[in-house]
This record gives sequence, structure tokens and C-alpha cells, in this order.
Amino acid sequence: IEVDEFDLVVFGASGDLAHRKLLPALYHRYDDGQVPDGSRIFCSARRSYSDAEYRAWAREAIEEHVKNHETHKLDAFLEKIHYIAIDLASGEGLADLKSALEERPHGIRAFYLAVGPDLFGPICEHLGSNSLVTPQTRIVLEKPIGKDGTSAKVLNDTVARVFDEHQIFRIDHYLGKETVQNLMALRFANALFEPLWNAAHIDHVQITVAEALGVGGRAGYYDTAGALRDMVQNHILQLLCLVAMEPPESMDADSVRDEKLKVLKALAPITEANAEKLTVRGQYTAGASAGGAVPGYLDELGNSDSATETFVALKAEIANWRWAGVPFYLRTGKRLAQRVSEIVVQFRPIPHSIFSQEAGSISANRLIIRLQPDEGVQMKIMIKDPGPGGMRLRQVPLDMSFAEAFKVRNPDAYERLIMDVIRGNQTLFMRRDEVDAAWAWIDPIQAAWAASRDKPRSYTAGTWGPSASIALVERDHRTWAEDG
Ligand code: BG6
Repeated sequence: IEVDEFDLVVFGASGDLAHRKLLPALYHRYDDGQVPDGSRIFCSARRSYSDAEYRAWAREAIEEHVKNHETHKLDAFLEKIHYIAIDLASGEGLADLKSALEERPHGIRAFYLAVGPDLFGPICEHLGSNSLVTPQTRIVLEKPIGKDGTSAKVLNDTVARVFDEHQIFRIDHYLGKETVQNLMALRFANALFEPLWNAAHIDHVQITVAEALGVGGRAGYYDTAGALRDMVQNHILQLLCLVAMEPPESMDADSVRDEKLKVLKALAPITEANAEKLTVRGQYTAGASAGGAVPGYLDELGNSDSATETFVALKAEIANWRWAGVPFYLRTGKRLAQRVSEIVVQFRPIPHSIFSQEAGSISANRLIIRLQPDEGVQMKIMIKDPGPGGMRLRQVPLDMSFAEAFKVRNPDAYERLIMDVIRGNQTLFMRRDEVDAAWAWIDPIQAAWAASRDKPRSYTAGTWGPSASIALVERDHRTWAEDG
């Protein structure tokens, strides 16, 4: 889809997100002809770079993260980038940005805040007081949006003083992942699944976002967050919403977000009374990853006291007609056995078998939506084993691997999301009330943990987390997909 000429301003442009994600994503969109000629990209941070110095840094980022870049295209793309040093404390540098932007007062303008949330306020105030917010202006906020409901409200209020809700794009990059959008296609572009998509036919759902990496250089931020706030409050709850929501009226932003909000509001509360039964916290200790020895979380942090969880498993329930009694097992963690993110929809067993015992056992159908790596959709079905030896049953996958089915590059989530910002399409961004509802479910869990004297359970780096996580599902006579 075509986009109009735009001005994009990236605050925090010398940081890790710009290096790994934003610059490579913008280059890809340019390469695909989606950055119209007159568009300008203003990169800003406190450091004083000349245009040439910043472009050299940006070149290195793109060379590192984009496999097949062409030098002449990269040169042309870098010409679009201008660097403006801005000191947000003193306001120095803002005048330069203002005069550059005012050359095009009516065009599409987007401010991307790739900075910590403590800078959201100062940036918004500067943008407001310098009259840089036009009707065609959008602002993009990176998570974390607060560390609980109260701090999220303060942040959102600060931004709302300068921007209207329809101008605010709260990124949850999981919503930009191809397979996540495919979940909507799968559910609502096929007649097959929806009639079965409820408690009568689905036994339970599992959502796993497992990472093999540790916290590495982000230990400072991570220790103030933990897995519940870093991954569950946003990415995992968004995935849960897309699995569980009612069919929206259309793909219109508010139709989709209204339905997601209803799911968040229907989540059964986890409080001090039931947290011990429904949640498991873990923290990794030294172990091995990809064959090499790796340190434990506390060693990386240099603080032997931290009770921050690097793993969490939860049993969630959605108290509504469609899902009553269907557990949603959620789990995420750092330094797990492998990097894998998937949604597993486990159907109920057949009501009655017509086969003899010799045919073997019949496993219930299972739909697996794999987000990463090896994006794809798999349906586990029972078939007859080939051969004349009588009726022997076997479960096999009906497998759709995106890489094999479509010989195209799988775009990064940020490519889609940045372009949606430019187009003004908020469907894949979180509305304020969704953020609030997600915190309203997370805060009591956090409070229950704070009130309990227990520390997170240890797990060895390179495993699937604490054994209590396995027990959480085994108690219900079920198993996590990888373990079973
Ligand atoms: C981020 C979290 O939002 O998502 C990180 O802050 C996490 O801790 C990352 O590693 C995972 O994203 P992806 O796209 O690599 O699965």
C-alpha cells in the first residue's frame, strides 16, 4: 500500500533499538519503494554527530542487520537521514528541528520515542510548547508504558496533554509479527475454525514465548521490570486477546481494540488468595546455552539479592460464555532451552472411538501457530498409518511453513508498524484503555508476589524453567507442548 511523503523524527536515535530495528526496517521499506522521494528522516539524540558521522553509524547498523543490501541504494537511503543533536534538559537543538519541520507544515509528521519513559514527558512538553504538533502529527511510544497501573496513568496523562488518542501509537511489536496477524486471517478468513473456537471444543490454550538469551546488557532495566511486566503485560496478553476475542465488526482499529479490551476485562483476577496456585516465578542460575557455559541472573546483575523473576508461568481464565473453564497457560522466560514462541490450541478428545485397541491411542487435534523461529501453522490430525497391516492410527502434522510456502523474506514487525504509523492506521497499536486493563490484571499478581515471602524458584539456564511450571499444568493432567 502506497504511503504519502512524510517526515519522521526518531528520538533516541543513537540507541540499540534504532541500530537493531528502526534503521534496518526503514531501509527495507525504502528498498521496497515505500519511502516516497521527498520524505525526510530526522535522527536525534544528545550526542553531537555531524550528518556524515551519524550516517556512517547508520550504515554500519544496516550492513550488520540487512543481509542483501545494495550499496547504491544504501547510499541513496542514507541521504534522507539528517542528524540533529538535542539536549532535552536545556532544549538546545530544538530550534533546528523546528525550522526543519516547519518547511513542511502540512505534511505527515511522526515522532518516534525510542527513549526511556522518563523522557516521554519532557519530549511531549517541548513538542507542545514549540507548536510542533499539527493535525497530521503522530507520536509513537515504545514500552514499557509504566510499571503499574498508576505510573501508566501518569505517563498516558502526560502524553494526552499534547496529543489526542488518535495520534498516539503505542507499539507492541508482537502485533507487527507476520504470524500474529496471520492469527486473525486464520480465525476470520476461514469458516473451519470459528464454530469450534470455544469451550465446547477447545480443551485449553498454551502461549509460550521462550527466549534462549539472558538479560545481558539490559540487566539494569530488566531488574526493575521482570518477566511479568516485560513480556506478559504486553506481548503475551495481546496474543491471548487475538486468540480469545470475538470476531470484530471489521479490521477498523477501534472494532479490533474494542474486542481485545473485552477479553482483558474478562480475565479472572489472580490475587493473594490464588496466586500461589496459579502462578510460578523463576530466576535462572548458571548453566549452559547453545553448548557454552553462561552465568546466572544474579551474577549478570552483580546483585545477589534481587527477587526479580526471569521466568513466569500462569494459568489464566477468561470468565465469559465462550471460554468459561478453558485454561490459558501462559509462560515466558529468559535463558530457556530454546528460542520458540508459539500458540497451541488443544482441542478436546473425540467423544467415542470406533477403533480397536490395536489401532493405538487417539490424540486430540492440536493447532500450533508458530511465531518464531520457522513461522508457520501446523494442525495435528490422526490418520491411518500406510500399509496393509490393518488399521493403525498415527498423529501427523498438516504443516504450513511460511518460508517454504512463500519464497519471500519475512518482514520484521517494525517494518509493518512504522508504515502503519505513517498511514495513520492504529489497528495494530494498543489503545490507552487496553493498557489500563492489562495493568489492572497484572497489578494484583505483582502485589501478591510482593506480599509473599517466597523468592522466585531457581532454574538452571538452558532448561524449560522451574519444575513447578511443569507441575502447574500436570496438576490438570496436561503437559506443555515441548515436554509432551
Ligand atoms: C521485548 C522485551 O519487548 O521483547 C525483551 O523487552 C524481549 O525482553 C523482546 O527479549 C522479545 O522480542 P522478540 O521479537 O525477539 O521475540
